[in-house]
Amino acid sequence: MSLRAIKYEANTLEILDQLLLPAQSKYVQVKGVEDGWKVINKMQVRGAPAIAIVGCLSLAVELQNGNHDSKKDLRQDIEGKLNYLVSSRPTAVNMKIAADELISLANTLCEDEAVTLETMKSNFISTIEDMLNKDIADNKAIGNYGAQEILSHVPGDNLVRILTHCNTGSLATAGYGTALGVIRRLNELKRLEHVYCTETRPYNQGARLTAYELVHEKIPATLIVDSMVAALMKTRNISAVVVGADRVAGNGDTANKIGTYQIAVLAKYHNVPFYVAAPFTSIDTKILSGDHIVIEERPEHEMTHVGEHRIAAKGIGCWNPAFDVTPANLIAGIITEKGIFRPPEIRKEFFV
Ligand code: MRU
Repeated sequence: MSLRAIKYEANTLEILDQLLLPAQSKYVQVKGVEDGWKVINKMQVRGAPAIAIVGCLSLAVELQNGNHDSKKDLRQDIEGKLNYLVSSRPTAVNMKIAADELISLANTLCEDEAVTLETMKSNFISTIEDMLNKDIADNKAIGNYGAQEILSHVPGDNLVRILTHCNTGSLATAGYGTALGVIRRLNELKRLEHVYCTETRPYNQGARLTAYELVHEKIPATLIVDSMVAALMKTRNISAVVVGADRVAGNGDTANKIGTYQIAVLAKYHNVPFYVAAPFTSIDTKILSGDHIVIEERPEHEMTHVGEHRIAAKGIGCWNPAFDVTPANLIAGIITEKGIFRPPEIRKEFFV
């Protein structure tokens, strides 16, 4: 059974504290929006889809326990709290897209005179609850499309060797995963020879989280340090790179975990196809290129320390962007739940 990052049962929300993994598996209760904002901002839960789901569920929990005088009061509360949740981390667009859709739903329900306050609240909460199941279904579709795409470039029944970066698995989503979902599907089809995962400095999502998931799933895997990617591509006959996304711009430029861009450059040089796997909720149709994506900068102690242990010389300056933008021309395809898009097709899909 895959790991559960998000537990939502009987109106109670708990998240697996990813700051403690892999040493400890401890769930933290999220009692409302304030807790939701904090666990996202501190990265106790992370990964673009998981951020949106936990943010929205934290609102569902708060609304279940709250009292509102009128539909207008409820609508205002919803809008304010969703906008607050969007401010928890700026680069991943999934929370912002979910917030815009939910605010629009709240407006529609508020204006409909046939809808009572209680119905408005329950309809709104069940829409949020549906996000969990939809995300898993989307990830399975992504896994399937991605596996078929990669295998279509491989002769006969040959096995493939995949490189991935950061963590895009059950811990970053409602379950199954995006890029890791593609890897999982290749493994289910018995066509995966090996997966390599990067350590993903500075927060080590690869070493701590992806490696943990791969071991848990018994998928044949090897951990490498981020600076080994060129050597790996030169010597290990990598079939494809698959990574996730925090935001895909209208032209296909993709923001993802810092280090993704350099892997894409190396993949181009070594003639290895480079894929982005992401649900449609990671595509920002409002921006034309990656130049408009705000890149989050994280505190320097995430670079200078591993846990409580300082590894960098005291007094050194630090630059710690959490993401970079891979230009569309380095991306062979964007694997979504609706199929594979070549970057120019994304633009046509939304802007024709
Ligand atoms: O800073 P993080 O750990 O939230 O960054 C996560 C990533 O960059 C993932 O690749 C991305 O969110 C996709 S997760 C399915």
